[in-house]
Amino acid sequence: MSIDEIFTDGIHVSGEHQESHHYSERARRNLWLQMSRMGAYSENHEIPIIVRGEGVHVYDANGKEYFDGISGLFTNALGHGRPEFAIAAAESMNNMTFFPIWTYAHPKAIELAEKIASIAPGDLNRVFFTTGGAEANESAWKLARQYHKLRGDTDRYKVISRDIAYHGTTLGALTITSLDQYRKPFEPLVPGAVKVPAVNFYRAEAHADDFEAFGLWSAEQIEEALLREGPETVAAVFLEPVQNAGGCFTPPPGYWQKVREICDRYGVILVSDEVICAFGRLGTWFGGQKYDYVPDIITCAKGITAGYAPLGAMIVSDRMAEPFHDGDVAFQHGFTWAGHPLSASIALTSIGIIEREHILDHVLGNQEYFRQSLEALKDIPIVGDVRGTGYFWGVELVKDQATKETWLGDDAERLLRGFISPEMFRRGLICRSDDRGDPVVQLAPPLISTRDDIDFMVGTLREVFTEAVKRHV
Ligand SMILES: Cc1ncc(COP(=O)(O)O)c(C=O)c1O
Repeated sequence: MSIDEIFTDGIHVSGEHQESHHYSERARRNLWLQMSRMGAYSENHEIPIIVRGEGVHVYDANGKEYFDGISGLFTNALGHGRPEFAIAAAESMNNMTFFPIWTYAHPKAIELAEKIASIAPGDLNRVFFTTGGAEANESAWKLARQYHKLRGDTDRYKVISRDIAYHGTTLGALTITSLDQYRKPFEPLVPGAVKVPAVNFYRAEAHADDFEAFGLWSAEQIEEALLREGPETVAAVFLEPVQNAGGCFTPPPGYWQKVREICDRYGVILVSDEVICAFGRLGTWFGGQKYDYVPDIITCAKGITAGYAPLGAMIVSDRMAEPFHDGDVAFQHGFTWAGHPLSASIALTSIGIIEREHILDHVLGNQEYFRQSLEALKDIPIVGDVRGTGYFWGVELVKDQATKETWLGDDAERLLRGFISPEMFRRGLICRSDDRGDPVVQLAPPLISTRDDIDFMVGTLREVFTEAVKRHV
């Protein structure tokens, strides 16, 4: 279930909701919502209309306040309405409308590329801009393929990724994505998708009592897939530092190092998809600094501009960029809006605030408090697992804590869409209920959120889960 699908049961219309009703009607007529069951919205089932934001809160058309517990869509890292961004936008627009970075360059794209290179791990120094995350992943797969070709390794086109993982919806990125509900309507996809198990320790069958051994086993699944396919046919492996879909699967100790070793052994490009994880979500700039690895490519988007403008990027190692700096070779790939001066200015502003306000330290300083607060929910019988790190957490819900029996089909629908999502919303918390894997509720608040904010989010989860148990939902 996507964030946009969460409210398919909607809000019932009453007299005081006229303003919202008016917008909702107009939206139904002309606005095609993304990833949403449009038929579910009707006269009596409204589309939630969010009209304004301030700090960590947003407000609907009727003036009701909500805590932005999933940061928009993992985007609004620094809260709403910060004047620094409006000033940067005005300066950028007064200076120049737009100019492409095809053949030309402009100072803001150059400055941002330098800044990103300075905070990225290892020798990841070359920044290729896109307008979002799917484009960044699409670009990374294409770059890996051309890189191998340039080096005479002409048969490498396949891509390995993990079960349940989401990497975007363009055809290439969708091929890397492993969720059937997104893939099936568009098949056949791009040839060459190879899948390995998600790193889901809560439901591990192998090494179920040893996190580290489970991590090594998980990494070895990549090696086995490589050997099965023929390593000479595989271009790249795509992994998130912490996998979002399925609910914040964190990597066991040694997992990334083992994957790095395997990719090196077989000459495969390691792509770290950090569309969600980069720019502070984990309490570090990038996943590599949290888990001690250097990928060949990082893909990122979302939090790069703290949600104030669209932008994505692929950050590439010097080693991979080298063949493209030779003679007349070009990476024949690009997007008109990539590195728009407005978005680049906004990203520089955001990085500046993260540095000035010590946001990474703030997230690291609160992650244990966040974890402990969520762990305490385990006294509620439907709370199965708590996982995550930084400001990125998932709570898996189960029918039975002892057997880990999960909620399936209609049961999951009734629990999440029928009760938990609308109840959280009614109580003023926007978070994510997701049943793309086993049912989870996710929290990824703005990075400026305080311990009081954590208390509010976790307190609301407690109230709603407790009520769900009481009502035998
Ligand atoms: C891990 C990951 N990769 C890629 C994407 C695609 O990003 P976008 O929606 O900007 O294309 C997302 C979006 O949620 C994501 O979570």
